[in-house]
Amino acid sequence: MSSSAQSPRSPKSPQSPTGKATSPAPATSPAPATSSGPLSAEAQDAAGILPATHWTEQPLPEEDVDDGASSLGSFNSTTASLSSSIFQYREVHGRTYHAEMGSAEAWQPNDERHVDAMEIMHHAMMVQLGGKLFLSPLDKKKVQKVLDVATGSGLWAIDFADEFPNAEVIGTDVSPIQPSWVPPNVKFELEDCNQEWTWPEDTFDFINLRLLSGIVSDWDALFRNAFRVAKPGGYVESYGTGAHIMTDDGTVKEGSALDQWMRVFKEGGKRLGRTFALIEEDIQRKGMEAAGFTDIQFKDIQVPFGGWHPEKDVAERGIWWKMAIEADLEGWVNYIWNNVLGWTPDEAKAFTRHVKRDMNNPNIHAYFMARVVWGRKPE
Ligand SMILES: C[S@@+](CC[C@H](N)C(=O)[O-])C[C@H]1O[C@@H](n2cnc3c(N)ncnc32)[C@H](O)[C@@H]1O
Repeated sequence: MSSSAQSPRSPKSPQSPTGKATSPAPATSPAPATSSGPLSAEAQDAAGILPATHWTEQPLPEEDVDDGASSLGSFNSTTASLSSSIFQYREVHGRTYHAEMGSAEAWQPNDERHVDAMEIMHHAMMVQLGGKLFLSPLDKKKVQKVLDVATGSGLWAIDFADEFPNAEVIGTDVSPIQPSWVPPNVKFELEDCNQEWTWPEDTFDFINLRLLSGIVSDWDALFRNAFRVAKPGGYVESYGTGAHIMTDDGTVKEGSALDQWMRVFKEGGKRLGRTFALIEEDIQRKGMEAAGFTDIQFKDIQVPFGGWHPEKDVAERGIWWKMAIEADLEGWVNYIWNNVLGWTPDEAKAFTRHVKRDMNNPNIHAYFMARVVWGRKPE
């Protein structure tokens, strides 16, 4: 079981005795709507985004699975009192989000449905990396202390701890949603990655920054923090995605749901001041270089939307990605579509049904690119 020890300046992370994600009927309050509001017609045109009403005006695809309808459309502003403020979850259209914590503004829900989707996403990530947790050339004998920033479900940290039983692994997040029945060499802490990191310099042999699109307000500062707390000779690794849907054969039509998917994320990221366009802006390499990391290397990975790709291993990446997205389609879009860009729940729901139909259409050959970048702190 996790020892749940804390870094000196981190708030305590309570954990469930049951071992599953800790979500004890949290108190909720509406999420702040500081950055919300529909895009102007000009902004919409410039971003190539269709009006939200477009999706409710289209005939809806047949529904074949639970679409989460029950989780949309109810706006619960009840605030109950709980002993710890970290469980004062905010609520947006029936989904919960982390408690107020500095300037953190995570767009991923922290409820059970989304944690389940994040668990599938962890497997999808492993498939993309050929079954590996990382690509950095770590020396197993030397790795003693590891940091997993914005750990989410915590599965990466847990798997890493299993593979490196002699290393101590710390996973951080703004939501206390990680399991408690974990290997003894893992612990989870609450920490906002956008603030100055709380560990002393030269602490970690490896720092993992996976899937942080849309949550980092200053990537250069993030990499400076990583450089400071990495040990000399230690590695940082970042997995990030691009913000464009691509096709090599014109099967993703302009204005189709998949074409719009990334456009809306990209625009939402601009509004939030937390980019999704990691590859287009070359965020990872530039940030590592500026911070002082050396021996920087990268690998680009094609990730199809769905299982259409003729090569089996590439198709497998797409199948797992689709499963992770479909596990909580509404959860992936809820905050940005509704809270940031001002769509109604009905509009967002209609949109997700079109996305789902397109992801399952083998004649639509959509993909996006992911990039893993790693670098070493000089000794
Ligand atoms: C897509 S999940 C990625 C989880 C994990 N890194 C993985 O690869 O499976 C993003 C996580 O970032 C967390 N998060 C968002 N903003 C954060 C912040 N400012 N500081 C720390 N964690 C944050 C969210 O709570 C969520 O659990």
